[in-house]
Amino acid sequence: MAKVREEMVNDAAPGGSVETLSQTPFKINVRKDIVWDFSQVPVQFDSTDKIVSYMWAGLVVAGPPVERFFIKALKPTLDTIKGDPKLKQDVEDMIAQEVQHSAAHIKLTKQLEAIGYDCKKATAYIEDVLKDLTLGLSPVDMLGVVAAGEHSLYAIASVFIDAKEVRERMHPQVERLFLYHFLEEAEHGAVSHDQYRYFMGNSYWHRIRMAYRARHVFRMLTGVVDIFAAGFGQKLTAADHMRLWHYQWVYPGMMRKMSGRLAEYLSPTYKLTFKHEDLDLLDRWNAELYAGQAK
Ligand SMILES: [Fe+2]
Ligand SMILES: [Fe+2]
Repeated sequence: MAKVREEMVNDAAPGGSVETLSQTPFKINVRKDIVWDFSQVPVQFDSTDKIVSYMWAGLVVAGPPVERFFIKALKPTLDTIKGDPKLKQDVEDMIAQEVQHSAAHIKLTKQLEAIGYDCKKATAYIEDVLKDLTLGLSPVDMLGVVAAGEHSLYAIASVFIDAKEVRERMHPQVERLFLYHFLEEAEHGAVSHDQYRYFMGNSYWHRIRMAYRARHVFRMLTGVVDIFAAGFGQKLTAADHMRLWHYQWVYPGMMRKMSGRLAEYLSPTYKLTFKHEDLDLLDRWNAELYAGQAK
């Protein structure tokens, strides 16, 4: 079993011997040994209902285009990071993790497509949203959008690990994909913000403007539900949308639970510091992921 942290890199911590903007006090682990089998995943893979399954399917299908977008935004400035080897290594490892995420999502997307999900239409829609989001932005603006987007994923990740009522309703292999992906999002949760600060410092208004741009990502969550429903010949009613809203905001209410974490990013003094409890949590999470490998 791979360990969550190969080594502590205390040089990255406050008071360490090397000057770095990195807030990640360990070497980021790129897992390449996870085995996937999505062959038994059914159309309704979340026992709540079909619409909730469509929402999570949207997040599966969004994986590859969003990861492509993130990598495209992170790479152009990577080689210009000088004098901060820890930060540079973090960014390289984060990109390597994102490549693996994309590959795993593609595998599940293929299964969803095979059982009738209109993944091509959903992907085209997501790519259009991403195009709108980045229109006219410079490379450093793009980093700002990615840092905000990554913070959103970090917010979801921090809620998902303890959201028993969400995880138990999912097909185990779908649940495991999200467990894996959110674990790594939590691990590299600080990296794109560190990279962004390397170029922009603490430019508060720029950060807020780019976070405002990133809001379009949330639009995808409802757009893909309509696309998948139409693909299955269903027309969603107001009551269907209400049920989805209830799932997102009331019970289990992941959006409600993550809203505090999301709001942290809007603080002028925002930073993401890993505490010992966070590191213990990452270890627990990693153990759960590998325990699922044996099933
Ligand atoms: Fe990712
Ligand atoms: Fe990420």
